[in-house]
This record gives sequence, structure tokens and C-alpha cells, in this order.
Amino acid sequence: MSVTYFIVSFVDIQTLFIFFIVILLCYYIFTHPKLPPGPPGWPIIGNLPLMNRIKPGKRYLFYKEMSEKYGSICRIRFGIRNMFLISGYDMVHEALSNVGNGLENRPNWLYTIEKSTKNGKGIIFANGKEWKDVRRMALVTLRDFGVGKLTIEERIIEEFQAVKGELLKVTGKPIRMKYFLIRAVTNVICSILFGNRFDYNDPKYKGLVNALEDYFKTENTSSPINALPWLRFLPGRKQVRFLYIFFSFVSEQIKEHEDKFDKDDIKDFVDVYLKTRETADDKSMFTAGNIFRLIIDLFAAGTDTTANTLDWIILHMIGYPDILQKCQEEVDKVVGKGNVVHLVHRPHLPYVQATIQEVQRICNISPTTIPHGTVRDTSLGGYTLTKDSIVIMNLMSVHTDPKYWEDPEIFRPENFLDENGKLKRRKAFMPFGIGARECIGESLAKSELFLFFSNLINTFNFSRVNGKKVDFDGFHGKSFVPKQYEVVVTPIPENL
Ligand code: HEM
Repeated sequence: MSVTYFIVSFVDIQTLFIFFIVILLCYYIFTHPKLPPGPPGWPIIGNLPLMNRIKPGKRYLFYKEMSEKYGSICRIRFGIRNMFLISGYDMVHEALSNVGNGLENRPNWLYTIEKSTKNGKGIIFANGKEWKDVRRMALVTLRDFGVGKLTIEERIIEEFQAVKGELLKVTGKPIRMKYFLIRAVTNVICSILFGNRFDYNDPKYKGLVNALEDYFKTENTSSPINALPWLRFLPGRKQVRFLYIFFSFVSEQIKEHEDKFDKDDIKDFVDVYLKTRETADDKSMFTAGNIFRLIIDLFAAGTDTTANTLDWIILHMIGYPDILQKCQEEVDKVVGKGNVVHLVHRPHLPYVQATIQEVQRICNISPTTIPHGTVRDTSLGGYTLTKDSIVIMNLMSVHTDPKYWEDPEIFRPENFLDENGKLKRRKAFMPFGIGARECIGESLAKSELFLFFSNLINTFNFSRVNGKKVDFDGFHGKSFVPKQYEVVVTPIPENL
């Protein structure tokens, strides 16, 4: 008796059919990835219509809605690709701190990234060995603070003195602080990269700052062009006029450095790069295209972020004059009237530091990390993040996570102070990201925020224009920026 005859004689055809369906289902479940939940999408365009329904500048609300509806890992269909949104401290921490899960990579195959990095990947969009080598060189150079004659602290204080001079010309009038802050912060980067600062009225410098401001208005990685690259052929897309000015400024600076280069007299960041290009074992990473892109990355990541954080801080100071007064009193007590605040004072100014950190927490200048990407199927939280997908870590959700923050919507510097008034470390606070892709400018940015803020409030009072209501709403573009506002600056005579 054959086996088939034996089975068929006991099992009817219906049971056999069900058995095969179960086998097929098991095969499907075990060989197909378990994808995170997410909104249903259309063929080809996926969830783009859902994403585009959000008003300009309110993209963070879309991320909030998705995480509330679908949980800490959500799958959004970005055209034909998957975009995974990771929210809440626990999951973001797991995704970023697990070395070896491959999530340190960037999705540099996206159209706008591929196009803008074809001659050199710099740091932000480089992957693998190229990224590691260039990142290490940049990190060490920035951290050492030892480039050229001036320390980074001296460069920042020099720039504060320039801003002070400019502000003294406009006291008592409504002004936009951002105008001065972006010029100051860009000059700190220029001083580190190129060894010199520029006069705010230098036409070349004005061109650079305007070009940078334009840059921050350009498409970012969640642009529909990255989901459906053929959209670029449709008429009506904005031309990127600023790139020419920006690129020629950077090229000119590099050319000047190459012409005058002396390996025994290293004055700035570009000199360090040129020297590394001569001495590195593997020179292939340190190409001419790469220095160009690296400098653009440092401008892009290090100017707007810091200037906007300072702008948010001043906005909060006019909104909460009692907190401004407490900060001023602390500086006054520790540093004294008319004296310049230095980094050595930082540990003795916990309230000032807590105020800066609380503004960073509540304002979320980077509501998400720069996009990460998968280079292979990766598991996280019991789900599979499929290969060649975009992964967005929602930092705003970490800073408002109710598991870690009581009343997260309330501005309260005490969130960062212990019962003795000492600065308290909070683990669910990561404005600079964490893990392998953590911001390389963190130390520089912290020094800038502290030195500019504490010296500004030790020299000036800041108040609303005619007692106007303060609007804390912001616009989520490349970063999260406050709406344009004006402030009245008055000098504190005994501190000048
Ligand atoms: C308040 C100011 C700043 C904030 C809030 C900030 C925040 C961040 C965040 C959230 C990331 C992304 C981390 C990730 O993708 O996982 C990042 C990356 C980066 N930041 Fe900053 N940043 C600031 C200032 C600076 C400054 C001053 C510089 C340098 C001059 C800088 C250079 C960079 C670079 C090069 C990266 C990319 C690192 C990589 O991909 O390996 N940032 N930053």
C-alpha cells in the first residue's frame, strides 16, 4: 500500500486542503519579516498623501500622531520605501546604543543626498570606513581646542565682544536677536575652520550668512523627491540660487589655504585636514571633494542649530522674566558685575546651565535625528526593520516622554536640578543624539550656548516690545525654529 493511498484513505480532501494552507501560512510567517504597524498606504505613493496633509512647519505633529496611534516603532510608507519612526526614550535608546545593529548608517542612496554628495561624502552622509576616518579626524581637532593661537573659548568671547558692540548701537529699539546670533555663531565656525573672523558688514560675509539662511530653507530628506525621484522633472521646483555663493566662498578659502600651506605652522581646521591628507596611511579618504563637503557639513550642522537654540533661550527669557532675573543674580554672585564669564565659572552656575538645558529639552531644535538607514534587515523591539529603509529617531518624543518627565509641556529649569540646587543628569535628555552618530560639535555648542548666554545676560536686560504676548510656537523645517520675534535690549550700566 503506497503512503499516498494510506493518507488519502484516512483523511478527506478538505482536511488535506486546510493542512496545506496552514503549512503555507507557517512558511509565510517564518520567512517574512514581522513589520511594525503603521497606516495603510497606496501602491507606489504609499503614505505621501497622509504626510502632505500636515501644514508646512508642523511635521513634528505628524510624528507625534503616528507614535500615539501605532506605538514606539511605526512603519510609514515613504513612496515605495519603508520609513521607520522610533519614539520614546526606551526604544530610541535601544536603537542608538546597540553597537552592531547597523543603524549607525545613513540612507545616502536617497536622491537629494546622493546628488549633493557625489564629489565627497564629508561626515554627515558618509558611511563605513570613510565616515569613521573623517569623523575621528574632525572630532579630535574640534575637541582638542588647540588649533591655531586662540582657544575655542577665546574665539567665542572675542565674538561675544563683537555682538556686544553691535547691540550697544541698537539699545532701546525693537530688534531681531537672530540677526546678531547667526552672525556670531557663523564667525566662531569661520574662525575655527579658516583661522579668521569677518566683520559683520563685510559684503562677502553678508553673502555667506544669507546663503546659509537660504540653505536651511531647502528640501530635507523627507522631501517627496526622495520617495519618488521622477518628481524632479515636474515644473515649478525652486532653484537653489544660494549654492553658488556658498560653494565659491568655501572653495576660495580652501584654495588660499592650499597656496599658503606650511605643515610646521598649523593655524586652523583646514590646515589640519591638509596635513592629514599628506600624512595619513590611507589617503583615499582625504580627497579634495571630501574637505569641501566636510566644511559644508560643519557649517550646516553647527551654525543654525546653535544660533536658533540661543534665539529660543532669549525668547524664553522675555517670556519668563523671573527666570531671567534668577540667572542674572546667579551670574552676578559668582562672576561679579562687569566681569566676563569664562568656562571656569560653568560648574558654579547650575541654574544658568539648567535653564539652557531646559530650553533645549522643551524647544527641540532637532526634533528628530538626522535620518539613519538600514543596510540589512535589522531587528528592533520584536520587529524587522527591512534593508534600505530610512530610520528616524524622534528626539522630541524622548524629551516629552511621560515615563521620564513630569508635566513635560511646562518650562521648568528645576527639571535639571537636584534638591540641593546642583545640576542633575537626566537620561531622557539627548539633544545631541547618542551613540555612534552623536553630534561631534556637542562640546563646542555647549561652550557657545553657555558663554554667549551668560555674558549677554550679564551685560544686558532683555524685554518684550510694548509688553506684547510671547509666542512660543515654532516652525519645523530642517530644524525647529521660533517664529520671528523682536526684543528690546537695554544695557545694565554697572556691568558695562
Ligand atoms: C545646539 C547645537 C547643536 C545641536 C542641538 C546638535 C544636534 C545634533 C544632532 C541631533 C545630530 C544627529 C545625531 C544622529 O543623527 O543620530 C547631530 C549631528 C552632527 N552634528 Fe550637531 N548639533 C549642534 C551643534 C553642532 C556643532 C556646533 C557642530 C560642529 C561644528 C555640529 C556638527 C555635527 C555633525 C558633523 C553631525 C553629524 C555626525 C555624524 O553623522 O557622524 N553640531 N548634531
